[in-house]
Amino acid sequence: MQEISNIPPPHGGRLINRYVSNKRNTDSMFSIDISNDLRNEVENIADGIYSPLEGFVGENDFQSIVQSGHLNNGLAWTIPIFLDVDQSQALKMKDAVEVGLRNTNEHFGILHVEEIYSFDKLAASRSIYQTEDSQHPGVMKMIQSKDRLIGGKIELTKTRPRSLLRKHRRNPFETRTEINRRGWRTVVGFQTRNVPHIAHETVQKATLNTHDGLFINPLIGRKKPSDFKDEVILGAYEILLEKYYPKDRAMFVTLHTEMKYAGPKEAIHHAIMRKNFGCSHFIVGRDHAGVGKYYHPLASQEIFKNFPDLGIQPIFFPAFYYCKKCLSYSNERTCPHGSEYREDLSGTEMRRMISNGKMPPEHLMRPEISKLILSFAKPFI
Ligand code: ADX
Repeated sequence: MQEISNIPPPHGGRLINRYVSNKRNTDSMFSIDISNDLRNEVENIADGIYSPLEGFVGENDFQSIVQSGHLNNGLAWTIPIFLDVDQSQALKMKDAVEVGLRNTNEHFGILHVEEIYSFDKLAASRSIYQTEDSQHPGVMKMIQSKDRLIGGKIELTKTRPRSLLRKHRRNPFETRTEINRRGWRTVVGFQTRNVPHIAHETVQKATLNTHDGLFINPLIGRKKPSDFKDEVILGAYEILLEKYYPKDRAMFVTLHTEMKYAGPKEAIHHAIMRKNFGCSHFIVGRDHAGVGKYYHPLASQEIFKNFPDLGIQPIFFPAFYYCKKCLSYSNERTCPHGSEYREDLSGTEMRRMISNGKMPPEHLMRPEISKLILSFAKPFI
């Protein structure tokens, strides 16, 4: 594929593809059952979303990521992609070279077992999440993970059908091909775990003034209770794009993985995935990938100073709010008015309104999206 020069090469220089179409029969192989979440990760590795990873990380990479935010070879990487198993599974895999991967009784991949190792869950939590508080959803998941990790390359033998939630899933080869076809020289990636409100739209569209294309890439997958359900996020974006975005300037693709709520470390990880999809730029706004009060609202921007060679350019935004004096979305860099004129749709406030069957005001949320949310009996996880 001939690529336009501004679009960065994949992280590490080469787009990984671990899909094997000439299917090997894995039925007779010793195999393990893995969760839907881990199956997503196998697919993401196979599709090159996690380039340069070709499998689940081994111990050297795991330690290096935790201690320095880089793979053992020095390439930036802040969130370890790991496969955890329990002691008895680990024992059975001790002498295995290849292990079949199964999910809901379907064989879908192969793991080449390279090493089996243990890890310090609290040390990893402190480094990745900057806390070992088990109330933090990422720490909770880390603490609950099984005790042994398996490192090794994977092969994907079977892809999942395009269900309703997966109809916008694309791999980086497809998105890079599409970016080229559209002739975009600059592409701005946007991560989200939310239904879009007008502050999101304002941030996204601000970049369209100066860049060619917008790559809207909501995260579909495990999130914490009280976040919006995937189908609500998806439906809301379908409406927004149809009614409010120029068709030739925005691409809509879903990313199927879990939210870690790791704030700054996750912001770097989010940027790397979007680089692999072909984005030249990446939006980092207020409290990106944050949860509760664990991170300073600007921490996810500041961490980029430590990663000058990431190969994707962050675009930082201050916190946007609606200003009743400016009569528009503003922020502290553009608006001189006091906080009494500011309106912001906090998650808690939105949940309160929606639970009471109320539409948020039109200057905070598109009415079509409010209606959609209200049409769900249970829009929240
Ligand atoms: S996130 O966990 O995926 O970061 P969310 O979907 O709410 O949460 O945010 C998506 C992106 O929009 C993030 O970069 C976030 O910082 C940014 N963002 C959300 N709301 C605002 C706002 N009011 N002002 C500026 N940036 C915002």
